[in-house]
Amino acid sequence: MHHFQYKGNDLFAEEVAIKEIVAKVGTPVYIYSQATLARHFKAMDEAFAAVPHTICYSVKANSNLAVLKTFINLGGGVDIVSGGELFRALKAGVDPQKVVYSGVGKKDDEIEYALNAGILMFNVESEQELDRINEVAGRIGKKAGIAIRVNPDVDPETHPYITTGLKKAKFGINIERALDQYKRAKAMPHLSIIGIDCHIGSQLTKVAPFVDTIKKLKRLITGLKEMGISIKYLDLGGGLGIQYNDELPPLPAEYGKAIVEETKELGLHLLFEPGRNLVGNAGILVGKCLFTKKGDEKNFVIVDAAMNDLARPSLYGSFHGVQAVNNCQSGTVIADIVGPICESGDFLAKDREIPAFTQGDLIAFMSAGAYGFTMSSNYNSRPRVAEVMVKGSQFEVVRARETVEELIKGETIPAFL
Ligand code: LLP
Repeated sequence: MHHFQYKGNDLFAEEVAIKEIVAKVGTPVYIYSQATLARHFKAMDEAFAAVPHTICYSVKANSNLAVLKTFINLGGGVDIVSGGELFRALKAGVDPQKVVYSGVGKKDDEIEYALNAGILMFNVESEQELDRINEVAGRIGKKAGIAIRVNPDVDPETHPYITTGLKKAKFGINIERALDQYKRAKAMPHLSIIGIDCHIGSQLTKVAPFVDTIKKLKRLITGLKEMGISIKYLDLGGGLGIQYNDELPPLPAEYGKAIVEETKELGLHLLFEPGRNLVGNAGILVGKCLFTKKGDEKNFVIVDAAMNDLARPSLYGSFHGVQAVNNCQSGTVIADIVGPICESGDFLAKDREIPAFTQGDLIAFMSAGAYGFTMSSNYNSRPRVAEVMVKGSQFEVVRARETVEELIKGETIPAFL
């Protein structure tokens, strides 16, 4: 559920007409609904009301400071995967004790930064990483809270690029080897074992893989107890899907019920790292139709937004709903919506029945709040687009459109040329 609805023929974000935002900010533009963000956070939070828990929003899905601040205000923590994400989260005012740090390739300077910031825990993804964190912590006189990210070998039944919990994935430590690594960690003076972590994939549309994972983790927790290691936190990662088209993922309440049921006897503090579920349907990308073109075999609607602004269709063949910002077109056409980039893979919708857009029409690409702006690039030297947040009848630019000057920031022409 979201707050992008028509009033008459005009698409609104909450109480603000999209055309009003475009008149001020131009296109392409990402628009986020604050009420939708808050509502999704609360739905996830309430799903776990019965047990101690923290929702550590996965910053990679949408790292805009205003989005982070929205969740932090509601009591959220964050899941980060880089020093840059930590910087953003701290800028937005996160409580460092609600920060978990995941990722297979943490660098020394990032580890040090996180230790100095006083984060809750590192989700450790390899044997060597355990040694590095212990070493860095020792060098600066800190103790690092850690969990081992366990790879449970469960199939989340999602797109292969966003499947992470199978044995063949680069993520985590195989569950069969986890006990040995916990034993090693126990002997390391600058580590404090406080949790177990896993994340099996993204855009999951079923609860069963989460439950299967917990069943496997429980055996590990028993093993740890036998070794005299008692943990406080069970981090179950993110991954709950959203509706882009016709998929029917479980609601947070259903997901929560199954997980609480499966974990309550453990008496652990649960951590979650949802990304897409909180922000996906809270954002849209709005572009403008520049031209329409009839090819021999296809119709094309050429827009000013492109794969550099929203990479998901090109990268994963993802579906994003297409809606007219002013619903005044007569009839529909079957067409590809493409951007100006010089690649055949530059499309935002393919072979889609869409309104018969004409030049100047504004087009909304729905469910673009997650992995939209954060995956955007400057390819073809296109400035990154503006981001706007709407709250009720107010809106504000929360990231200015890049300028062409910014495109060359840091570049120099060497004296020898
Ligand atoms: N925790 C970890 C360790 C992760 O790697 C991820 C996502 C999340 C949490 C959040 O997962 P979510 O709740 O959003 O499913 N770019 C892809 C998605 C990549 C997901 C990467 N990891 C896409 O656009 O579909």
